[in-house]
Amino acid sequence: MNEEMKDRYILAIESSCDETSVAILKNDKELLSNIIASQVESHKRFGGVVPEIASRHHVEVVTTCIEEALQEAGIEAEDLDAVGVTYGPGLVGALLVGMASAKAFAWAHGLPLIPVNHMAGHLMAARAVKELTYPLMALLVSGGHTELVYVAAPGDYKIIGETRDDAVGEAYDKVGRLMGLTYPAGREMDELAHEGQDVYHFPRAMIKEDNLEFSFSGLKSAVINLYHNAQQKGQELDIVDLCASFQTAVLDILMVKTKKALEKYPVGTLVVAGGVAANQGLRERLAVEMRDVDVIIPPLRLCGDNAGMIALAAAIEFERGNFAKLDLNAKPSLVFQEME
Ligand code: KG4
Ligand code: ZN
Repeated sequence: MNEEMKDRYILAIESSCDETSVAILKNDKELLSNIIASQVESHKRFGGVVPEIASRHHVEVVTTCIEEALQEAGIEAEDLDAVGVTYGPGLVGALLVGMASAKAFAWAHGLPLIPVNHMAGHLMAARAVKELTYPLMALLVSGGHTELVYVAAPGDYKIIGETRDDAVGEAYDKVGRLMGLTYPAGREMDELAHEGQDVYHFPRAMIKEDNLEFSFSGLKSAVINLYHNAQQKGQELDIVDLCASFQTAVLDILMVKTKKALEKYPVGTLVVAGGVAANQGLRERLAVEMRDVDVIIPPLRLCGDNAGMIALAAAIEFERGNFAKLDLNAKPSLVFQEME
């Protein structure tokens, strides 16, 4: 960067689910801080996120998170150039807390507001690895979403395939709950899966169909039925084999559909992001099976919900001049095509 040019700093806020997070990004790519306050402990005993509790927690910690993010970055509010915020998809009450804070902060310091789609954030976390080249394909796998996204140019997102029912992370969490694991169960099941074998050969829904759609509810039901039948007969199922069988089916589906997408839209880069991109089994299979494309997976700390990824996506919108007015509304079911 030219020395005479001023450094650009973006503050970003994420509060769409059960993490309150604030990050500071310098010159569009360097994360100076990424404070994450997780509420997961408060939701564990309910086996999922309770929206009312989530909103209340966000209110309690968001101001402290903003202060900590600035402090850790070693900058003042006056140094900032913009405020990015997640405005959807997510829990409406949770989103509104982060948005109210972002708007108040932007207004108080005379800064422009940048609207960020949470899923664009997950995708753009890959920018922390290296600058992306376009067009690219993305497989986004989280607790609420499973989608294949074609990105023709920065900020130009198009969903080309998605789940008809459950998201992958959701299926992990529901199957995990059945087996008595604590929420969210994805990581623990991933670890257990590595110790077992695919002995149950669960159905791989729509794997042979020539489309880019996913379905995980049939797989989830198959695991649940097997488990309940065994319980009724007083049989013990081997939990590691159950996890391995479930995970192998999930990964088979993800790999087949992603390969199909790459055949239909040949690109040089595949981004795999979202909470489930932390999955070790998925990372191993991508490394072995995706040799013709440059696979970029965000580092583990940027896979789960965090504001660093929101800042990395906000920088793209800053370049495109995509700013929001202070009457920006939360969009709980925001999809890529209707982005502001
Ligand atoms: O992206 P994320 O943090 O939140 C949403 O936006 O949904 O994703 C959370 C999801 C949870 O369902 C969790 O079980 C899953 O990601 N997850 C994993 C792993 N780590 C987190 N799923 C499978 N394997 C993992 N290692
Ligand atoms: Zn997420």
